Formats: sequence, C-alpha cells, structure tokens
Amino acid sequence: MENRAQWGTRAGFVLAAIGSAVGLGNIWRFPGVAYENGGGAFLIPYLFALLTAGLPLLILEFTLGHKYRGSAPLTYARVSKGAEWMGWWQVIIAFVISVYYPVIIAWAMSYSWFSFGKQWGDDTVGFLLTDYLQVTDAGAVGSLVMGVFIPLVIVWLITLGVLFAGVKKGIEMANRIMIPLLVFFFLCIVISALFMEGAAQGLNAFFTPNWEMLKEPGVWVAAYGQIFFSLSICFAIMVTYSSYLPKKSDVTNNAFITAFSNSSFELLAGIGVFAALGFMAQATDQPVSEVVSSGVILAFAVFPQIINQFPFLPEVFGFLFFASLVLAGMTSLISITETYIAALMDKFNATRKQAVLYGGGFAALISFIFATQGGLNFLDVVDYFINQFGIVLAGLFEVAFLAWFAKQLKPLQSHADAISDIKLGKWWTICLSVITPIVLGYMMYGLLKQNLVGTFENETGQYGGYTSDFIFNYGWSVAIGAIGVAVILAQFKSWGSGKLDVPVSADNKEVSS
Ligand code: ALA
Repeated sequence: MENRAQWGTRAGFVLAAIGSAVGLGNIWRFPGVAYENGGGAFLIPYLFALLTAGLPLLILEFTLGHKYRGSAPLTYARVSKGAEWMGWWQVIIAFVISVYYPVIIAWAMSYSWFSFGKQWGDDTVGFLLTDYLQVTDAGAVGSLVMGVFIPLVIVWLITLGVLFAGVKKGIEMANRIMIPLLVFFFLCIVISALFMEGAAQGLNAFFTPNWEMLKEPGVWVAAYGQIFFSLSICFAIMVTYSSYLPKKSDVTNNAFITAFSNSSFELLAGIGVFAALGFMAQATDQPVSEVVSSGVILAFAVFPQIINQFPFLPEVFGFLFFASLVLAGMTSLISITETYIAALMDKFNATRKQAVLYGGGFAALISFIFATQGGLNFLDVVDYFINQFGIVLAGLFEVAFLAWFAKQLKPLQSHADAISDIKLGKWWTICLSVITPIVLGYMMYGLLKQNLVGTFENETGQYGGYTSDFIFNYGWSVAIGAIGVAVILAQFKSWGSGKLDVPVSADNKEVSS
C-alpha cells in the first residue's frame, strides 16, 4: 500500500489538467504564432500535430502516471532503471520554464494595474521597453527592475503557498477558484471584442489561409512546438498530475476532455485577439497586417493600444485581459513547479514543506535574473531554446524510448483500456510508434542544422538576430545543460528501498465528481 497524495474528485483532476494546459501559451503565444505561420492554413498543421502527437501523447502520459504512480523520474525509473535521466530531463526543462514563466505573469499583474487610468500613455512600445522594463543591450544584466520584481515576489508567494497546501487542498482548490473566473473573464473579453466595429476584418486576417506557408518546414515545427507547450506534455507535468489519480480513473476520456478544452480555449483566444486587432485597424485606418505583432509586443504593447481606442469601459476591458493572463499563467505555473516538488519528494524523501521551500525557493531566486534590465533578452532566447531543444526533443526521446526500446505501448494500451470507456484503437499505436517519431525526427534534424549553422557559421541570421555568443551562452548552454544536470541527478542513489517497485494503489473506488 502507498500513501501518495490524491485528487479529491475526478472534476478536480480534470480542472487541474485543463488549468495546466490553458496558460500563457494559449493567450500570449497562440494568436501570434498562428498568424505568422499561415493564418487559417496554420490550423492544418496544428490539427495534425494535435491528433497525431498531442492527444496520443497526453493519453500516454496520463496512463504512465496512473500506472507507475510517480513523479517523472520515478515513473521512468520504474519503466526501466536506465531511463531515470529522461524523467529528470523533463523535470529540469520544467524548472527552466518555471524561472521565466512567472516573470510574464508578473508583467501581466503590473499591466492589470496599469489598465486603470491607462497608465501606459500613447507610446505603448516605448512605455513597455523603456519606462517599464528599462531594457538594456542583449547580454548585459543591469539592475533589478522593481516594477517587475515586486509582482514577481507576489506570484511566487501565491504559487508556493498553493503547493505548500498540497494536491487536494492546494492545487485542486486553486484551480476550482481560478478556472471558472478565467473562463468568465475571457468570455467577457471575446464577446465585447466581437461586437466592435472592424472585428470581422480582424477575423478575416486571422482565418484567411496562406496555403504557400504549408510548404515551409518551420510552420510544422511551430505547430508541434505550440501543441506540446500548450498541452503541457513532454515536460513532466501530466505524468506528475496523473500520478495522483485514484486507481479507477478514466484516463482516455480525461485526456480527450483536457485536449479539446485546451484547443477550444486557444481558438477562442485567437478569435478574441484578432477581433480586437480588427477593431484597432479600423479605428486607426490601417490594415490588420500593420497592427498585428506577436509575443511580448502583441500582449503588452499592441493590446494597450487597443485598450486606448476602446469605446466602452476600456479600463475594465484592459483589466479583464491582463487578469486573464495572470489567472491562466498561475494555474500553469503551479503545475510546472509541482513537477520538481514531486520529484524531490520521491527521490530524496523530502517532505512537501522541504521540497517547496528548497525547490521553489531556488527557482524563485533564479527567476530574479529575469526581473533585471537584461531580463527580456534572456527570456526570449531561453524560451526559444528550451522549447525547441528541450520540450520537442524530449518528446522525440519519450516516444522513441517508450514505443521502440521499452516496448511499452501494448501494456500501456491494455492498462488504459481496462479503466477507460473509450478504447484505444490502432491509430494510437501507429501515431506514437510511426508518425510522431518520424515527423519529430525529421523536424529536429532540420531545426538542429539550421540553428547550428546560424550559431557557428554565420555571425547573423541565427535566432532573433542575437550575436552567436549570446545564443551560445543562454540558448545552447541551457538546453544542453538541462541534459547534463539530468544525467547527474539520475546518478544519486537516494530512492528508498523497494521504491522502484510499482506500488499497489491505496484505494479501489472510482472517484465521482
Ligand atoms: N501549457 C502551459 C501554457 O500553455 C504551459 O502556457
């Protein structure tokens, strides 16, 4: 018998999984990525990546966590002793994400406040880069920016407080409060944006397909990257969350609900953001292509401009938008951080208190680097590299290992089928053993070649136009370092005796919602 923490209800688990999936990736990243990669045509690689990789991998991870009942390193070690490092690799990727992700939440927190009185003024780009972030040259650290540092400390206090309270009383409770609030806030924004003049023009720009773009391998890479980040797969989260499921839990159905809720929210975000962009294009008499942007600038400079133009309760509209970012980000950050809390508890027999204090405290300290004047440049490069050469690469290793080397697909399929209503057909095994590894392998080869040439042969032309030194020090080193640290952590011999045996679950009851 084991006494692993458990979700209180099925709804609690599903809400937490959706809370993890729906995050900054949906609101902050998706609309811009979709627009840059072919608009309406992007939906084809996006759906392909969702159905052949995202959903099958989510089912795989839910089943893995449910069957092996451990944090990612413990789960992989239970599959095969030599695979523990892969669990740690995913945990370290989550750790790296958890040091810059809260910084974006901190900006959103500040901007929720700036919405009142539209404190960013007319030059919103200047306000963001110069007045608020006080950005300096790439590579320089500069001083701590108090306007970022203070909300960042608040973000960490809430996150660690929730994790401190545990799975049921902390994570489940936080999601029960934050997710309904997020859905309400976000629906208010989307509906009001759709009623604005010019909204149709924005939606046209968003959905008009550029079929030519489908020939670009980069578009497919973007679709896979988006799906993996957005579904919180291949970086230890879903394995950890499902390790807290009771024995009788319908994993396949839960994965379908989570994946489709996440994509619906993503699409809704695209519609809301582009309706608002269409409104602004009309109000300022410009084409949508002139007002659109992506990432940081879209959320924190273009959106404030939209709010400036908004005719009806602009301050409330602004507050709701940035508060949505905060809520969506917080529920994801909680899940990202829980990956290493759980891993520390499993491997080193730490109590939850100790793991939160030392693991969370260490992450919080490192995150302060991103609250300096150099923070935005570091964030940009670390985010790109840890996604492409962290998450996506770890995803390739995960499917190749489980499908080809450990031959786990059949036993996992039987495990999932025994407890789920929907039975997994051939599509699941074919997607995971053939389509996903081949597509990901091909993509990785192209991406590695392009970035290596960018860094080591050209002075310019690499990611973001940064210097090779900067890319090497903060991009490659972080991505490769994650593997190195994982291999070292896997060498420690701290598992307690018998820990690598798959435990018998403590209950036999189906949880009800
Ligand atoms: N899945 C989370 C997001 O989309 C990490 O932001």
